Amino acid sequence: MSDFLREFELFLEANLPKVDSFHPFYNDALKKMVLAGGKRFRPLLLLSVVNAYEPLLVKNAFWVALGVELLHTYSLIHDDLPAMDDADLRRGETTLHKAYDEVTAILAGDALNTHSFYLIANAPLSDEVKIKLIKELSYHGGVGGMVLGQAIDCYFENQTLTLEELKFLHIHKTAKLIASSLKMGAIIVSLDKNKQDELFEFGEKLGLLFQIQDDIIDATKDEKEAGKTTSNDGDKNSFVNLMGLENAIVERDSLADELRDRAEGFDEALSQVLVEIIEKYFK
Ligand code: IPE
Ligand code: IPE
Ligand code: MG
Ligand code: MG
Ligand code: MG
Repeated sequence: MSDFLREFELFLEANLPKVDSFHPFYNDALKKMVLAGGKRFRPLLLLSVVNAYEPLLVKNAFWVALGVELLHTYSLIHDDLPAMDDADLRRGETTLHKAYDEVTAILAGDALNTHSFYLIANAPLSDEVKIKLIKELSYHGGVGGMVLGQAIDCYFENQTLTLEELKFLHIHKTAKLIASSLKMGAIIVSLDKNKQDELFEFGEKLGLLFQIQDDIIDATKDEKEAGKTTSNDGDKNSFVNLMGLENAIVERDSLADELRDRAEGFDEALSQVLVEIIEKYFK
């Protein structure tokens, strides 16, 4: 599984935006947070689906996986801004608004967001597939997903949500993009609609698991280990704040077990890699 990720990393380095201008650091600011690394969890999901069904399409899918990673990176850059979570460290580096200034961080985020769709539009895939991918990413990475989740996350700081509302928040903030990453893989290899929906639903739960884990990281790791500012969820409706650390850990473990069982129901090649991913990231 890591083979195509290494290759993807080279593709990423070679295909970051670079525009001639007299701006002193525009290109550097656009690249900085992308090159700082990160788990590449969403590209991994998308490419794993493609690899399970049509390994020959993995390279064509790199464009799409990079689009998803740029959109995700934009969401992190904006998430760290003073108006949102006000964080100093991201992916082991000084956040963009600290390294440069807020204007640069806002605009770099904007540029990475729109560039995601430029990359997908230019992918060596059919136009029909590309329209479906753009619909998927623009909705769940935007109005109907990540942006809605972030809006609720920030608006309801210091106001306790119900457990149901908490799940709605995190499903939108984090899980929709993760679910979309799996579904976009399914769209690229033309899986039938039922299988696409099944993968999306699985992804929503996986995304919830991912955010529970992220909230546990905030509460239990220092910034060096996490590579980002931690102990930063004091005002938030995090799983840890609403249910307590112990219960959040129990919830994470039981959701991970449930998802591993569910993953076993997918077609063999896919099932194998999904189980591996769950073991690697949540065990
Ligand atoms: C962090 O995402 C923000 C959340 C949605 C929880 P990641 O944990 O995937 O961050 P990187 O990409 O590895 O830096
Ligand atoms: C952010 O969630 C999710 C995004 C959509 C970026 P967090 O605010 O918990 O992410 P971290 O902990 O700063 O990475
Ligand atoms: Mg946040
Ligand atoms: Mg944050
Ligand atoms: Mg967090």
